[in-house]
Amino acid sequence: MTRLICVSGGKGGVGKTTVTTNVGSALSEFGIDTVVVDANLTNPNLGFHLGIPLYPTTFHDVLRGEAHITEATYIHNSGLRVIPAGLSVDDLRNTSPDRIGEVLSETVGEPDVVLIDSAAGLGNESVNTIEAADELLLVTNPNLPAVTDALKTANIAEEAGTHVLGTVVNRKEFSDDELTNDEVEDMVGHPVVAEMPEHGKMKEAVARKTPIIHHEPDHHLSEKFRGLAADIAGLDYEPSPPGFVERMRQLFR
Ligand SMILES: Nc1ncnc2c1ncn2[C@@H]1O[C@H](COP(=O)(O)OP(=O)(O)O)[C@@H](O)[C@H]1O
Ligand SMILES: [Mg+2]
Repeated sequence: MTRLICVSGGKGGVGKTTVTTNVGSALSEFGIDTVVVDANLTNPNLGFHLGIPLYPTTFHDVLRGEAHITEATYIHNSGLRVIPAGLSVDDLRNTSPDRIGEVLSETVGEPDVVLIDSAAGLGNESVNTIEAADELLLVTNPNLPAVTDALKTANIAEEAGTHVLGTVVNRKEFSDDELTNDEVEDMVGHPVVAEMPEHGKMKEAVARKTPIIHHEPDHHLSEKFRGLAADIAGLDYEPSPPGFVERMRQLFR
């Protein structure tokens, strides 16, 4: 049975695309047949994160009824399957998000997991995506504006009957000004399933157009993404602990 899992959180820049590409890559590493879809129709950038920004046929073409979903499905050199979105202004102007649910349902049956990267905000494209998905992985940062958006996103999922898997708190700097995980859980009403520190390697990975899981497979952040993916897939996986330098850094934070 295919699981349609949407990665959303409301606010832009919190790390939705980063989580999508890394969790997708980790699921694929585990041998789970996974497709990642760029349902961010207005500002698509999943292709940039994977180092392949330009594709002849995209999710936009499928939504306009000009291509079948299989024609817009590509295989990344890591083995992960990708349905990218179009980058042109024409795509943006001429494509309605109304058919997102119908088109995503066409992916059901074949892969084990379809991981859907959604747009920032709670406009039609995001809401259609959340409603079409079976499950939602929330991504937020430990500050009030981001968590407020995550709460609204969770509310929309609950109204739509989309099961909320939990909250990823990304870009944690471990400062006193941040919300704690307990505060995030109290506000959003869903458990924190992973916390990811703010880390230069994440920016480096995006600059290298490679998910950190492939850029630095042994990095403790890559291990964290594998741990999160294993939780989602219901697999037993014990991420290896951070190395000496990272443990020292955490100690002095
Ligand atoms: N944990 C992190 N530490 C440092 N930079 C991060 C982290 N997570 C994401 N980023 C950076 O933040 C930017 C926005 O991330 P992205 O995943 O595109 O967010 P969104 O999809 O929610 O808009 C990217 O440049 C990414 O490299
Ligand atoms: Mg994004």
